[in-house]
Amino acid sequence: MPTRLTSVDTVHDEGSWLFTASDGSEQTEVTVLPCDDGVTAWVNRCTHEAQRLDRGGDIGAIIRDGGVVCPKHGSVFDACEGGCENGPADGSTLWTVDISVNRGDVFLTDDDYEFVHEGGIDDDDGPSSSSHLQF
Ligand code: FES
Repeated sequence: MPTRLTSVDTVHDEGSWLFTASDGSEQTEVTVLPCDDGVTAWVNRCTHEAQRLDRGGDIGAIIRDGGVVCPKHGSVFDACEGGCENGPADGSTLWTVDISVNRGDVFLTDDDYEFVHEGGIDDDDGPSSSSHLQF
């Protein structure tokens, strides 16, 4: 059963939409990006080094001219195709995650991932986060 993630409008309004998914053993961050009138989803990791593209919270992803900019060394990945043609990540492509859109809502349809919560793995505001200690 596909899980509803968010709406296409929300992704376009906010510039990106981050969530945490699980492949059964490990958790992975996935960022949903605007592409033309639709959306695409990618593992939230630069292909050059282990750098988050979407930093979640109020910062999110840097979107410029239809691409997501890596905050570490500035490579830009096409938000529609995931490819990069500049900087240290030149010639590489982000890892895709399968989603689908139905009546403006975005659903996770990738057999390899299950939805865990909105936001990044360590985000305190995730509904199922247990990383926020209280004294
Ligand atoms: S870590 Fe992204 S370009 Fe180097």
